Amino acid sequence: MYNVLIIGGNQGIGLAMAERYRTQGHHVITTSRQFSKNQTSSQQLYCDLTHPDSIVAAFDHLQTEITHIDVLINCAGVLHTENYQPEKSLKQVQADNFQHNYQVNAIGHLLVLQQAEQLLSHSKQAVAVSISARIGSIEDNHLGGWYAYRMSKAALNMGVKTLSIEWQRKYPNIQCLLLHPGTTDTALSKPFQQRLPEGQLQTVDETAEMLQQQIEQNTHTTNQEALFLDYAGKPIPW
Ligand SMILES: NC(=O)c1ccc[n+]([C@@H]2O[C@H](COP(=O)([O-])OP(=O)(O)OC[C@H]3O[C@@H](n4cnc5c(N)ncnc54)[C@H](OP(=O)(O)O)[C@@H]3O)[C@@H](O)[C@H]2O)c1
Repeated sequence: MYNVLIIGGNQGIGLAMAERYRTQGHHVITTSRQFSKNQTSSQQLYCDLTHPDSIVAAFDHLQTEITHIDVLINCAGVLHTENYQPEKSLKQVQADNFQHNYQVNAIGHLLVLQQAEQLLSHSKQAVAVSISARIGSIEDNHLGGWYAYRMSKAALNMGVKTLSIEWQRKYPNIQCLLLHPGTTDTALSKPFQQRLPEGQLQTVDETAEMLQQQIEQNTHTTNQEALFLDYAGKPIPW
């Protein structure tokens, strides 16, 4: 039985992954901004990646409950809110939207990994997964647009790759992965689904199954530098 921590585990892909690991008998802890701020539950922790104090508080609580984390999956991500949509052109770029994207998609992931370091290091073999996106690939950018989302995912990729080099020296037991889930039917993709070719939209359960497969196949006994893979295990150019 693994100790599994899912950041953003109360909806979308994160919820499907939490349900999948729970059904398999693992001990699953999820975080959400919808949970109580008082951290009264041992399975559901409040955490808002735009508030670093809440990340620290969640891990302070977690450390009283478990000795190690085997699987950390950070599903938190933002593309649009009620206040902004992804930019179609440079004219639409706004600093506060950018800051919000960076805080959730990139900086927040790194702060979670900072707090999780000790608990991951105590696992026999741990994996630290950040759900990234193909759109964060610089080489694969052929369409343009979506500046804040693209740039924040590219920043996430660089942050995790950099951390994996640091951890390779310190912790042979922690593998870092950046996974692209594929276009999945969630609130995040909802406004853009009508443009998709027939048959290209995955359900959250299909995505969760494929991501778990990639996590299992790419957790190595001696860790490697971070891998950036799609849901089928195909490497994505950085
Ligand atoms: N769906 C797709 O087609 C697709 C494609 C490529 C990549 N992705 C990536 O997949 C991941 C999961 O997205 P999804 O599709 O499942 O979308 P979703 O249903 O909208 O879920 C977004 C998740 O992010 C969390 N979140 C948002 N802002 C947060 C904040 N300030 N602090 C903490 N958590 C926050 C939400 O948690 P709360 O419960 O707190 O709201 C929620 O769990 C994201 O990283 C996304 O970029 C998705």
